[in-house]
Amino acid sequence: MASIDNFEFAHQHRSEVAWMSQNTNTLPVHPAILDAIRASVDQREFNNYPFKRGIFGLPEAILEDLGLEGFDLVLTNGGIEGEYFATRALLKPGDEVISTDPAFLPIHAQIEMCGAKAKAVDIYRKPYVLTPERANEAVTPATRALFLIDPDNPLGSGYTRSQVKGVAEVARDHDLLLIDDITYRDFNPDHVLAAEFYPEKTLLSYSFSKAPGLAGMRVGAILGPTELMKQVKRFDTNPLGVNVLAQHAALAALQSKKEWLPGIRKTCETNQRTIKAAVDRVDGASLPVFPSKANMFAIDVGPTGVNPEALEERLLHDYLVHGRAGSYLSRLNGSRFFRVPFTVPEKDAKRFAEAFPEAMKKLRK
Ligand SMILES: Cc1ncc(COP(=O)(O)O)c(C=O)c1O
Repeated sequence: MASIDNFEFAHQHRSEVAWMSQNTNTLPVHPAILDAIRASVDQREFNNYPFKRGIFGLPEAILEDLGLEGFDLVLTNGGIEGEYFATRALLKPGDEVISTDPAFLPIHAQIEMCGAKAKAVDIYRKPYVLTPERANEAVTPATRALFLIDPDNPLGSGYTRSQVKGVAEVARDHDLLLIDDITYRDFNPDHVLAAEFYPEKTLLSYSFSKAPGLAGMRVGAILGPTELMKQVKRFDTNPLGVNVLAQHAALAALQSKKEWLPGIRKTCETNQRTIKAAVDRVDGASLPVFPSKANMFAIDVGPTGVNPEALEERLLHDYLVHGRAGSYLSRLNGSRFFRVPFTVPEKDAKRFAEAFPEAMKKLRK
């Protein structure tokens, strides 16, 4: 059964399924976030279009969250929309964008919509990031941009300060645009922004989907230096603004972040241990990256001969646990891994930990 049908099944059984397929966050949401959504509903703000720049305080709160000054931003329907604006505005047919395999492949699709090409460097090997050396080797005269996911989806690897600096230097040396996708930043206390090293040509793709648990709200932003953002804004296809309830949720999330983020990180640590113990019980399965700096693991099942798509199927239909086969994220290595996030209640991580060894046993040749 195709993955799309698995999603139909999972949505039909939403309340029973352990939702571990999209790196979302099903942990309790901070009450301040819920109150902000309810207050906006009570005031029927949804009758009007929101102020295009954003509800008062939200753009400023995003800049403050990142510790950035002098950057401009556009609020978007999730980070993915900002990446669409940026690729559309800044790429032309024939351009190459250095990216990775695995990666969040919908971005590669966006690059291809511009007639450009995603040149995917294989990072399914140590140190599981796009090192400055590998980035440099991939540059050709057609290279226009470099796309970084940090921390990485799906590997969970985080770039060190010197790796970010090195990649930014490669971008500067070749006058490339650097798109720094920081969707999973909050999970990594050591995260470093590429904008620190290459502010003049770095765009940051920012999301409220993962750590604050607001994926269904569809709110994020694209940020960059003012001159670059002038170009990006030419492709802002959303002149009437972003869902007002989502914006209130986002602002409340930033204002209450100190109260909820430590608890989320702690649950991630506990769930990482639970899942690792289950992986360790299965001969031939392993975690290429541990601990993860994001909210997910890629579990390598290559040596077991088990097809990750069959595993997705069995876990969902036999155990109501929905993870994701690697083929969604990788053309080169998709048959070797299975992705599982852990921003879920501890009981769901335990359900995965019980189901995974059993499903692997059933499927092993
Ligand atoms: C690397 C990466 N970028 C962007 C997105 C899209 O996030 P959003 O929900 O903010 O559009 C995702 C979603 O999983 C992602 O993994």
